[in-house]
Amino acid sequence: MAYKNLIELSHPLVKSYITKIRDKNTSYFEFRQYVDKLSVLLAYEAGKELGLKARKIKTPLAPYNGSVIKDEIVLMPILRAGLGLMNGFSSIFPEARISHLGVFRNEVTLQPIRYYFKFPRLRDKKNTIIYILDPMLATGGSMCSAIDEAKKTGAGKIVAACLVAAPEGIKEVHKYHKEIKIFTCAIDKKLNNKGYIVPGLGDAGDRLFGTL
Ligand code: PRP
Ligand code: URA
Repeated sequence: MAYKNLIELSHPLVKSYITKIRDKNTSYFEFRQYVDKLSVLLAYEAGKELGLKARKIKTPLAPYNGSVIKDEIVLMPILRAGLGLMNGFSSIFPEARISHLGVFRNEVTLQPIRYYFKFPRLRDKKNTIIYILDPMLATGGSMCSAIDEAKKTGAGKIVAACLVAAPEGIKEVHKYHKEIKIFTCAIDKKLNNKGYIVPGLGDAGDRLFGTL
């Protein structure tokens, strides 16, 4: 199915690494290593949303009309599993500032419960881009809650980045925030009756942190 404002990565490395993390026999430390690799590729792709401004420099040989990133970047991992995407994103965007948003799903109602939010003071709201990071977009409740918070900051652009997205979650995000671009490494079939993505990879937080 084609969705607007949805970018699914198609690189062979992405396909291969995502298979590794889906595998139930992958250990939590290998899982973390492959999530790191995926987060680099995801950050590279999502970096296409950044604006440039001109910068004149001098090479050792001649003047050069170059470019630098115009936007201030804020990374907003959704605790806790969103932390898994931080190594890759912060290596690609080393100057980014980091906001933490604590949200977990009530296991019965699947409703998002927000428990923590810390956000940096923005110098130039219009030219700020917030990357919301969460490996799993399931019902979309957590991501919608994060987008609501991100919008209150007045940042000019908000982008969602995840590893696996369910059609239900994509539709939910775009029902309330149709302008938000979602970058994902995979789009899966559906949610099961407990709100887990199928085929998915299980509970991302537990697999990342070894809390199974
Ligand atoms: C997971 C995941 C997302 C959320 C997705 O977090 O990391 O934040 O579920 O589900 P949704 O789209 O239906 O809201 P979880 O609530 O398990 O918390 P954790 O990261 O602390 O393990
Ligand atoms: N959160 C997860 O960690 N996994 C899912 O499949 C759905 C929500």
